Amino acid sequence: MSIKIEDVDYIYSLNTPFQKEALSGINLEIKKGDLWLIVGHTGSGKTTLISLMNGLILPYKGNVSVDGMSTKDKKVNIKNIRKKVGIVFQYPESQFFLPTVKEEILFAPKNFGIEIKDDVLKYYLDLVKLPYNYLEKNPFELSGGEMRKVAIISVLSYNPDYIIFDEPTVGLDYSTKNFVYSLIEELLKLGKTIILSTHWISEFTSFKPNVFVLKSGKELFKGEFDNFVLQDENALTQAGIVLDEKLQLYKCALKKKNFELANKISLI
Ligand SMILES: Nc1ncnc2c1ncn2[C@@H]1O[C@H](COP(=O)(O)OP(=O)(O)OP(=O)(O)O)[C@@H](O)[C@H]1O
Ligand SMILES: [Mg+2]
Repeated sequence: MSIKIEDVDYIYSLNTPFQKEALSGINLEIKKGDLWLIVGHTGSGKTTLISLMNGLILPYKGNVSVDGMSTKDKKVNIKNIRKKVGIVFQYPESQFFLPTVKEEILFAPKNFGIEIKDDVLKYYLDLVKLPYNYLEKNPFELSGGEMRKVAIISVLSYNPDYIIFDEPTVGLDYSTKNFVYSLIEELLKLGKTIILSTHWISEFTSFKPNVFVLKSGKELFKGEFDNFVLQDENALTQAGIVLDEKLQLYKCALKKKNFELANKISLI
């Protein structure tokens, strides 16, 4: 069971003056239960890659499949793929359009023909630490962090196996950022597969994620976190990735094979 991306190219606005090859020659397999960080410069293709994973866009060349179902296969009901792969887009709250939090949360599952009982709804509110009476509030009356939580529940509510976060902590304050990290930890414990694009790699050190580095639409690196940190720093810098102080220390500890120290640093 996995999301498989095989030899994928993606081109925006084909055959127009705005034609843009956003991805080229991408291969990636995301296995169930894993955590992947998708990192790279702004414009490197992260959101494009994510959008391919649930069939929101289709590859120009190559194939994307989810648990064996190809997003291009006309015999596959795309809803079955979308239900398995939930995406929390950047600033998801900008897409709110219903009068209450409850309706906003129930919109996506309703689309998939899933009925959400009140106790399930309450389970998710507990998970993101929002009071129950928020269900009747107008979503636009919430704070930025609370809105993000509602947007996250609206994806969690249909129980996708793969959950993708596109820059989940952008624009959030410190405590909501920490909430997002702990939620991701919780979701991994529940056996979910998590894929997230982020500029904040260092925060995820203790999670030991897999990392996929994009540079101008091409793969620069793919693999385990420790190998990522040990990559040539110039190459990473060119891809817009700077190892902060914590990661520099972590790298030193790895180089000295002092794994106990590396572990301690990862928890800072
Ligand atoms: N709808 C579109 N039409 C044309 N070009 C697009 C479109 N969306 C994205 N692009 C281009 O494709 C490339 C990849 O964009 P993408 O949004 O995937 O990058 P990103 O890594 O997510 O960037 P960011 O970190 O800024 O979110 C960029 O050069 C971008 O300008
Ligand atoms: Mg993006």
